[in-house]
Amino acid sequence: MEEQGFFYRDTWAEIDLDRVKANVEGLRNHLPAYVEIIAVVKANAYGHGDVQISNTALSAGATYLAVAFLDEALSLRRKGITAPILVLGASRPQDVRIAANHKITLTVFQSNWLTEAQAVLNETDQLKLHVKLDTGMGRIGIRESDDLEALEKLILDDNRLELEGVFTHFSTADELDTNYFYQQFARFQEMVSLLKEKPKYIHCSNSAASLRFAEANFNAVRMGISMYGLTPSPEIEPELPYPLKEVFSLHSCLIHVKKLHKGDKVSYGATYEAKQDEWIGTIPIGYADGWIRKLQGQEVLIDGIRMPIVGRICMDQCMILLPHEYPVGTQVTLIGEQVNEVISVNEIAARAETINYEIPCIISNRVPRIYKRNGKTVDVYNAIAD
Ligand SMILES: Cc1ncc(COP(=O)(O)O)c(C=O)c1O
Repeated sequence: MEEQGFFYRDTWAEIDLDRVKANVEGLRNHLPAYVEIIAVVKANAYGHGDVQISNTALSAGATYLAVAFLDEALSLRRKGITAPILVLGASRPQDVRIAANHKITLTVFQSNWLTEAQAVLNETDQLKLHVKLDTGMGRIGIRESDDLEALEKLILDDNRLELEGVFTHFSTADELDTNYFYQQFARFQEMVSLLKEKPKYIHCSNSAASLRFAEANFNAVRMGISMYGLTPSPEIEPELPYPLKEVFSLHSCLIHVKKLHKGDKVSYGATYEAKQDEWIGTIPIGYADGWIRKLQGQEVLIDGIRMPIVGRICMDQCMILLPHEYPVGTQVTLIGEQVNEVISVNEIAARAETINYEIPCIISNRVPRIYKRNGKTVDVYNAIAD
């Protein structure tokens, strides 16, 4: 008999909600009380699980949530989240009524978008807007003062619209060279000063800026990567004002163990060859789970001992070179702590030649997430059982 909320495979991610709480409280204590925390939970909370992270962040002191797309905001509403939500990315003008009906705040940066949106809204609709300024990221946002003036006028003239916020995004807040950061910061201040009415929220800091540049706090910061306990970049790790606690870990179990003899081969392409009698273990995780082929050679942990992945990573499985025979069912940790050893998200990112942000995001929804508080399982989410 199938049970909802359970899963039937030996691979899972663990999300430590106490650590999310500690990371949010760390920033809360670091910031002046009047600076609000906007918890960035886009992309399913960077792969950690949007609703569980949102609830934990809100109970730890965050007051606003941010996602990238309207669909993500609607998904949170469907799951019962009533806190304010800002969509950071572009939404379509024809969808503004859906946002208004669900009290979802949208980002605006084009006057013609707003005109189209105004034509769609009903007389009684109320829509909150944050204006996005492009101060040097070159992605989305208003760049010219005239355009800002025109857009502000359109919003102020329409009593269905509330200009609740103005924001920008930094492209180098996590770099040691602060030159470009200060150029963007100056441009932001200049453009904000042109507004006739100061909105309730003025925000520009991402995690890196909120940890490093108090002058850029204004009255809200957008906390993403640091909420998940990850350093925005390795360069600024020595500057962190409080320790970050890594939230995400990844585990599997040996599902098969066998002895190979000298010359026996492993996996597609038969590229790995046993040099002597060797014990090889198989774990049920592969590139379809986000454990990409580039991670061949990466070490994993059993009993706190490191051992390498050998041969090519398959779609659903990969193989480990064991120092001796282990029983089927032995736990293998791919990311996280075991005994006195740890494999960090940063280590996996370095091996995959990418940034730590990408790692929990690419662990696919085929991998169930187990939520822990005080070491106990408080929730299980298995997306493919939905
Ligand atoms: C507009 C915007 N604000 C805030 C964030 C959060 O940044 P971080 O995860 O570095 O804190 C992001 C993330 O990409 C973003 O795109």
